[in-house]
Amino acid sequence: MIFAAILAGGVGSRMKIADMPKQFLPLGDKPILIHTVEKFLLCSRFDKIYIGVHANWVLHAKDLVKKYISQPERIEIVEGGADRNGTIMNIIGAIEEEYGENEDNIIVTHDSVRPYVSIRMIEENIDAALEYGATDTVISATDTIITSEDGDYISTVPERRLMYQGQTPQSFRISILKKLYNQLSEDEKAILTDACKICVVGGVKVKLVQGDVANMKITTIEDYRIAQAMVGGEK
Ligand code: CTP
Repeated sequence: MIFAAILAGGVGSRMKIADMPKQFLPLGDKPILIHTVEKFLLCSRFDKIYIGVHANWVLHAKDLVKKYISQPERIEIVEGGADRNGTIMNIIGAIEEEYGENEDNIIVTHDSVRPYVSIRMIEENIDAALEYGATDTVISATDTIITSEDGDYISTVPERRLMYQGQTPQSFRISILKKLYNQLSEDEKAILTDACKICVVGGVKVKLVQGDVANMKITTIEDYRIAQAMVGGEK
């Protein structure tokens, strides 16, 4: 079976403009989260679309689904976790409670605050996860990437053609991700905040899927303004 996990368990502390998490802010005529969910609803391959939401916002999210979504039976809302991977694991827990464990089940995880994900990216994630077991969506770095250990001086300047920026979706065979996550110590969990990094560190190959600059993450108020400017121009 194939499941979507829309990650909406964060509180958006870097946005600093609203009294609600950024995924609930309006973009055009509906909340950011609804734009994102609608993209996933366009893909008929999902058996269920899960949304992981911070405990304080579960009722609000349920109201939004009722108001905006024409196929609410395809959606399930679950409580998010303390961090992003915690939200993924809560969703996996809910999937297995409902459908049991299956070696071949796939989960397509996606940041709720990336409303400009495309159907092509979602489809390619599903295909690659089925074939390879783990996938990440990336774009080639256009700026030169600098690393700095102390934030004051350059440590290294890696060769740009080898550099990519990670986006989402990130997709996994659930059995692989769960096994690797459960093997981590609490300290490792605190460091390995990226689910694909858990796979890389665990020796699992992660297949790359081509992302898009438009698939931006709304993190700051500047991002939000850009996303608002883009809302009318979607193809
Ligand atoms: N996320 C989640 N569960 C958490 C933390 C984050 O599902 N416990 C989700 C966010 O809702 C967001 C995505 O992960 O869709 C990417 O995280 P980020 O942009 O960092 O969102 P926030 O954690 O909300 O933002 P901030 O770090 O500014 O507080």
